[in-house]
Amino acid sequence: MEPKHLLTPYKMGKFDLSHRVVLAPLTRQRSYGNVPQPHAILYYSQRTTPGGLLISEATGISDTAQGFPDTPGIWTKEQVEAWKPIVKAVHDKGGVFFCQLWHVGRVSNNGFQPNGEPPISSTDKPIISKTREEVDITEFSPPRRLKTNEIPHIINDFRLAAKNAIEAGFDGVEIHGGNTYLIGQFMKDSVNDRDDEYGGSLENRCRFGLEVVEAIVKEIGAERVGVRLSPFLDLMDEPDSNPNALGLYMAESLNKYNILYLHVIEPRMVLMEGKLQIPHAVFPMRKVFINGALIVAGGYDKDEGDKVIREGYADLVAFGRLFLANPDLPKRFEVNAMLSKYDRKTFYISDPVLGYTDYPFLLN
Ligand SMILES: Cc1cc2nc3c(=O)[nH]c(=O)nc-3n(C[C@H](O)[C@H](O)[C@H](O)COP(=O)(O)O)c2cc1C
Repeated sequence: MEPKHLLTPYKMGKFDLSHRVVLAPLTRQRSYGNVPQPHAILYYSQRTTPGGLLISEATGISDTAQGFPDTPGIWTKEQVEAWKPIVKAVHDKGGVFFCQLWHVGRVSNNGFQPNGEPPISSTDKPIISKTREEVDITEFSPPRRLKTNEIPHIINDFRLAAKNAIEAGFDGVEIHGGNTYLIGQFMKDSVNDRDDEYGGSLENRCRFGLEVVEAIVKEIGAERVGVRLSPFLDLMDEPDSNPNALGLYMAESLNKYNILYLHVIEPRMVLMEGKLQIPHAVFPMRKVFINGALIVAGGYDKDEGDKVIREGYADLVAFGRLFLANPDLPKRFEVNAMLSKYDRKTFYISDPVLGYTDYPFLLN
């Protein structure tokens, strides 16, 4: 049998994927007023292949979920309607499209919040970093600690957003438990300082995220649910003191829900033997997460992607910056073509074309 690689088909639940090159969720800040725009039709359809999996940019679940300018939402009728033609365009080209559901928690400021109120979080401790790495120079406002009896309302917002995503036509949702947004602010012990059943022990800190998973699984079915985690990342001074234990506990717990996939971001690349390399820290999670597919992301290229698929370390690999700059990335991998370079300066500008839909395709 030929060894598996990125272009080997994969059956993920009921989805027959024709290859394993996934579009990673990429915030592009071009959804004016939190409403997805028609230019996203071209952007996503450019990155669609028949049988390819796409994960949408992080999408707010409620009016308290926002912290970045012009990121899309999925809590109003208008937003749901605006997503429909975008999802349809992906489906028309045979793609499989998941919506990443997001609540930023304290990675926000009063200006993004209803009535100028403080952002909500697991804590009332402010973020120490002054700026969001690479994104902008927004100052964060001190958050308001959610009361225990408010937490079910936030879980309900996640549930309703998942329901809306299905109504908009998405094939499923990815719950954003990564990058120390609201779910991560509960999970990570450097942030969570609660003394109720949502704080303290590892089990308590993971409770909020798992209750979100449970509510969404009940609403739309486990076969349409993915979860993204980044236990190893320490963005904005928010590390966990034991990321391996956190990752393992979440992987074991999620395995019991029979969700479709677990998507894990690797730790930052490190210099080994004179070369920047991916630390490959996800293996213990892979060993316990056996009921669904495992997607890995973070610093991958074709060679490294082929290698982890061949070795069975992951089932699928998500590509962020390379897919952003190479709309036909699976094709380029197939023919070993040169890759276009991404332009960091245009990642988050609001232009509907520049740095968004103007990256070149290979000439046929
Ligand atoms: C412009 C940009 C926007 C991103 N937005 C999101 C996002 O909305 N949700 C998310 O989970 N990760 C987001 N990420 C992280 C990527 O999904 C991915 O994990 C990261 O870029 C590392 O993968 P790469 O080395 O293939 O780029 C973003 C990254 C970039 C560069």
